[in-house]
Amino acid sequence: MTDPFDLARARPEPAFTVTLDGRDIEALPGQTVAAALWTAGVTSWRTTRGEGRPRGVFCGIGVCFDCLLTVNGRPNQRACLVPLRPGDAIRTQEGTGHGD
Ligand code: FES
Repeated sequence: MTDPFDLARARPEPAFTVTLDGRDIEALPGQTVAAALWTAGVTSWRTTRGEGRPRGVFCGIGVCFDCLLTVNGRPNQRACLVPLRPGDAIRTQEGTGHGD
């Protein structure tokens, strides 16, 4: 199988670690939260207020707000837009993310 980095001739900086609900996830510099979660096999990280339905990336460009989660204690961050930094603590989110 061809390595996508070879296809793009990409030379990414070394990976670093963030956490998702306390579990270590590897990320590359410049990766968004959503990209790192997808790479880790996580496709859903929020549930809706009313019926608790699973949500993840829908538009991927910051428009739909389906991908909300909590980053370093701040709820309602768009996973498709937020770039990761080493040590970031990501949490899945229920409803509004304010415990209501
Ligand atoms: S996936 Fe639509 S805002 Fe993030």
